[in-house]
Amino acid sequence: MPIPLLIDTDMGVDDAVAIALALASPELDLRALVSTGGNVPLEQATKNIARLLHAIRPGHWPVVGRGLDQQGPGLHDATHVFGMDGLGDCGIPESGEVEVRGYRDAYGEFLSGSGELNIVAIGPLTTLAAVLRDDKTARKRIKHIYIMGGALWCKGNIRGVAEFNFYRDPAAAAAVLTSGLPISLVPLDVTKFVTLDESNLAHFAASETRAGEFLAKIMAFPMQHSSEAGKGRFIVHDALAVGAMIWPDLFVRTQMTVEVATAGEHPGQSRPTLAHGGPQVDVLTAINAVDFLENMLERLCEEKEFVT
Ligand code: RIB
Ligand code: CA
Repeated sequence: MPIPLLIDTDMGVDDAVAIALALASPELDLRALVSTGGNVPLEQATKNIARLLHAIRPGHWPVVGRGLDQQGPGLHDATHVFGMDGLGDCGIPESGEVEVRGYRDAYGEFLSGSGELNIVAIGPLTTLAAVLRDDKTARKRIKHIYIMGGALWCKGNIRGVAEFNFYRDPAAAAAVLTSGLPISLVPLDVTKFVTLDESNLAHFAASETRAGEFLAKIMAFPMQHSSEAGKGRFIVHDALAVGAMIWPDLFVRTQMTVEVATAGEHPGQSRPTLAHGGPQVDVLTAINAVDFLENMLERLCEEKEFVT
């Protein structure tokens, strides 16, 4: 039985890889996509969901919801990495066909659905934290939450201290991580080991699948502009949050309490604590990156056309 899934996303290029992987995976049933501001402003993130679905899953889209943005003054975005439009500034067509609802409606419909309801959060946790705060029944209906975020032992990607998703909304990250819900956290410590290079893009382009051709186009910009993994390489952070659902045996994990700084010199900085008694989360601490990359490339490049 495919696992029912809602993805909450700030719709940069690695978010698109994660969503394409979910759509190509028979183990998963992607029922809803909700935008959150982060890599790009909320409206652009919402448009990018429609652009992605139009490109790789025309006419068969999940529920789409518009979430929340962060209000803090002077917050970095990630347009320098993903382009002004968040999807590599490569002219991916807009799509007006996708109906966009409010996030409460989109989450509400998903959480009233059947099966073991899983959420993957691959942007700032602003919208998810609002849902958990306002919808008191949500907690009982969520089976598991997978979060890409945090930098526990390695350097962060924001001023070398915090990780971007937690930096954009530290209070939301702290609230979700201490909610007591079943959570698997996929931090930079693990995601930084899974990078794509130009040869992978060439493979995508030659795959003759909608997903492969779309991803080859949008990854060209970050491949040249992202400095995280060096020139010509691109870290697909968010794909690991989806991959952790599909290939759990490729990861090493441990239970711990994770604290997120919500004030002080480095808001968004995350650290494991030895404090006893706090809500624990499942932290992914190591990955078989070679096998993960091979599995992901195969899944995306040999994606079976969507059968109506
Ligand atoms: O730090 C990596 C995270 O920040 C990823 O989710 C990427 O899309 C950006 O949102
Ligand atoms: Ca993201």
